[in-house]
Amino acid sequence: MAKAKTAYVCTDCGAEHPKWQGSCAECGAWNTLSEIVLQPAVKSAGAARGGYAGKAAGASQVMPLTAVALTAEARTLTGIGELDRVLGGGLVEGSVVLVGGDPGIGKSTLLLQMLGTLGVQLPSVYVTGEESLAQVASRAQRLGLPLEPLQALAETCIERILEQAAVVKPRVLVIDSIQTIWTELLTAAPGSVSQVRESAARLTRFAKETGTSVFLVGHVTKEGGIAGPRVLEHMVDAVLYFEGESGSRFRVLRAFKNRFGAVNELGVFAMGDKGLREVPNPSAIFLSAHAGPTPGSAVMVTREGTRPLLVEVQALVDQSSLGNPRRVALGLEQNRLAMLLAVLHRHGGVAAYDQDVFINVVGGIRVQETAADLPALLAVLSSLRDRPLPEKTVAFGEVGLSGEIRPVPNGEERLKEAAHHGFRRAIVPKANAPKSGRVGELEVVGVERLGQAIDACR
Ligand code: TYD
Ligand code: MG
Repeated sequence: MAKAKTAYVCTDCGAEHPKWQGSCAECGAWNTLSEIVLQPAVKSAGAARGGYAGKAAGASQVMPLTAVALTAEARTLTGIGELDRVLGGGLVEGSVVLVGGDPGIGKSTLLLQMLGTLGVQLPSVYVTGEESLAQVASRAQRLGLPLEPLQALAETCIERILEQAAVVKPRVLVIDSIQTIWTELLTAAPGSVSQVRESAARLTRFAKETGTSVFLVGHVTKEGGIAGPRVLEHMVDAVLYFEGESGSRFRVLRAFKNRFGAVNELGVFAMGDKGLREVPNPSAIFLSAHAGPTPGSAVMVTREGTRPLLVEVQALVDQSSLGNPRRVALGLEQNRLAMLLAVLHRHGGVAAYDQDVFINVVGGIRVQETAADLPALLAVLSSLRDRPLPEKTVAFGEVGLSGEIRPVPNGEERLKEAAHHGFRRAIVPKANAPKSGRVGELEVVGVERLGQAIDACR
């Protein structure tokens, strides 16, 4: 194949340079130039940028939205309920889904298991760039998957993958992983930003043109982003992250971006000797099994995605020997913890400036919503005073800077989940509490100020 024309773009400011240089002449940033392929001019500009909107350049026309024919996306259930939930109700035809996560978390296992059931309905191909065909086959066998519907290809060159795909015409294509894929058009090494970007752009175009659903597996960098900056995340329709603590067998699949469903939707799995098993009722696993109430532990009802979850948050507050005491938050935002401690001091009258404060969400899940504020504060307070919170108590609510407890969305649904799991008391924002003060067996205490919340824990 003829060598395509390439150029270098700055990944910071987007300036284009004909030759590589150490620093960008536009913005002065160092080491940000990355090689890209320049498509021949006959191709539309949209295609050259990896988009697909400009595909039918000649036919585009302004029209009122009322004249647009609405077609429901064709969806197929993958056979793995938790995955379907995170995808927003099944796999959409022609969609591109990026599955990211740390090495060894179970990305390959999940996708292979998915093809084991999905492959029966839709012809599928699993492209492996990391493992040999023999390794894939023996893994499939160990997982107890039917081997007949599984087709695999060991290849890393995008041109050859697309050639094979044009012959086999799969409806689902899994690329494991995008970091191993390279194009002949670029001289950069596989895994470099330009290779990953160009390969992903080609696969995205393929998906949109043929209606094939494409899954891209991506490794996560130390900073937590998917390697190959954020460019990949912009190109695809959905980004799912696989999370979990290395010591724990539970894995959480989270929709980080989804053009076809709710973001932050969670799917929960347990890794066993037969691969990943779904956990359809996950509340119970995020509560640690204490014999009785323990200081420093609070249970919150979080609502990530569309489902309420009971999650335990633990705090350890201990005399610090450092001039600058430690504030460590795992599963919650670090800055939020510092803010909560300031509010606790100012509006709760409890000082923790000479204490190390550690806070952790059980089960390795990450809670991003502000409803975790109140339970996190109560856990800190409980540890500081070495006094457990009352038994069978849950809490949720946002804490404001002036010590007010602010309502959070879907209060009723959260309370129902707590009642369903046998909790007896809930400390929640006043606006989230029902007038009757009860939900089933659950007594609901509505609070407006931090002081009231602290009093309610006595
Ligand atoms: P894998 O899917 O290869 O991870 P990734 O593709 O994200 O790098 O998962 C490998 C891990 O899962 C490995 O540590 C072993 C474990 N595992 C099980 O515990 N049980 C199983 O049945 C399988 C297939 C893997
Ligand atoms: Mg893998």
